Amino acid sequence: MFVASKLATSTSLNMSRLRCILQGFDLKAVIFLFLILPAAIIGIYVHGQKISYFFRPLWQSPPKPFTPITHYYHENVSMSTLCKLHGWGIREYPRRVYDAVLFSNEVDMLTIRWKELYPYITQFVLLESNSTFTGLLKPLNFKKIRDKFNFVAPRLTYGEIGGRFRKGENPFIEEAYQRLALDQLLRYAGIEDDDLLIMSDVDEIPSRHTIDLLRWCDEIPPILHLQLKNYLYSYEFQYDDLSWRASVHRYQMGKTRYAHYRQTDYLLSDSGWHCSFCFRYISDFIFKMKAYSHTDRVRFSHFLSPKRIQDIICKGANLYDMLPEEYTFKDIIGKMGPIPHSYSAVHLPSFLLENAENYKYLLPGNCVREFE
Ligand SMILES: *[C@@H]1O[C@H](CO)[C@@H](O)[C@H](O)[C@H]1NC(C)=O
Ligand SMILES: *[C@@H]1O[C@H](CO)[C@@H](O)[C@H](O)[C@H]1NC(C)=O
Repeated sequence: MFVASKLATSTSLNMSRLRCILQGFDLKAVIFLFLILPAAIIGIYVHGQKISYFFRPLWQSPPKPFTPITHYYHENVSMSTLCKLHGWGIREYPRRVYDAVLFSNEVDMLTIRWKELYPYITQFVLLESNSTFTGLLKPLNFKKIRDKFNFVAPRLTYGEIGGRFRKGENPFIEEAYQRLALDQLLRYAGIEDDDLLIMSDVDEIPSRHTIDLLRWCDEIPPILHLQLKNYLYSYEFQYDDLSWRASVHRYQMGKTRYAHYRQTDYLLSDSGWHCSFCFRYISDFIFKMKAYSHTDRVRFSHFLSPKRIQDIICKGANLYDMLPEEYTFKDIIGKMGPIPHSYSAVHLPSFLLENAENYKYLLPGNCVREFE
C-alpha cells in the first residue's frame, strides 16, 4: 500500500515535470513563431535596403576613378594666364555656349542657374514634357510661368514634348526618350560644331567662371565632366564634393548625344554646385518623391508626411531613411547620420546673395519651409 502510493506520487510528479518541460518548450516555440520570426521579417522588410546598402562594398566594386584636372581660378588673374596654367592656349574669340536642360518644376534652381550663366550663354535650350519620368501626367510648369524668365527671352529655345504614358515601364526609358528629343531641339536652336554644350540637370549649376574659362581656352578636351559640390535641401548642407554627372562638350554634329552618365575620364575640379531636393515648398518635396526615377524608395506612405519631411530637412537627415551609397565601409560609416550644418555662404552663385531675402531658404540657418 505504501509502496503503491509512493509509485503513484512519483508517476504524477514525473508527469507534471514532463508537462512543465513541454509547456516550456511550447512557450519558446510560440515566442519564436509569433514574435521573433515576424519581428525579424518586419525588420528585414523595413531595413532590408539598409542591410544591402551596408554590404555594398562586398557586392559592388567602385567605379573606375576619374582623371582629375586641376582647376585654376582667381578673379584677378587674366584669362591668358588661366588658360596657360591649364596647359591650354587662349582663343582669339570665345566659343558659343549652349545650355540645355530638361525641366520639371525646379523654378528657383532654374532662375539661379540662368542668372549665373547668363553672361556667357548663346542659347538657353529648355525642354519639358507633360509626363514625369515615371509616367505620371504633369503640368507644363515652365510654360505657365514663362513670363518670369523674360530676361532670357531673346536667347531661349523652348520645346514641349508629349509623354508616352506606358504603365509599369522602367522610368529610365521615358528619361532617355526625353533626352533624345533634346538633341533635336538643340539642332533646331542652331548649335554648330565646336560650340560648347552644357549637359546637366537643372540643379547642377556650373560656376560662371568655369564656363568662361572653357569658352576662351583652346585645346580643352572634347568632353569634360564637371566636379560639383553636392548639397542636400539647401546650401547649408554640403555632404561631399563628388558630383560628376554634369558635362561640357565641344559639340560634334552627328556624334554628340545628350546624356547624363559617364562619358569620359576627365573631371574638372571645383566647377560649381549641385543642390538636390532644394525646394521652397514642402509640396515640391512630395511631388519630387513621387515623380523621381527611384520611386521604389518611397517604401511607406508616412515618408510623405509634411511634418516628417520638415523635421528631416532641418536635421539634414535622409528623406528615404537610407544608408549612404558608398563603396567602402569607411565611407559608409563616415557618412552615416545627418549632414553637419555649414555656416559658409562664401562662393555661392552671386544671384543668390544679391536676392538673399527671396531665396533665404537656400542659405544657412533657414531650414523651415512653407507648405506651398
Ligand atoms: C582686381 O582687379 C580689379 C580690376 O581689374 C582691381 O580694381 C582690384 O584692385 C584688383 N584686386 C586685387 C586684390 O588685386
Ligand atoms: C501631352 O502633350 C501632348 C503634346 O503636347 C498632347 O498631344 C497630349 O494630348 C498631352 N497628353 C495629355 C494626357 O494631356
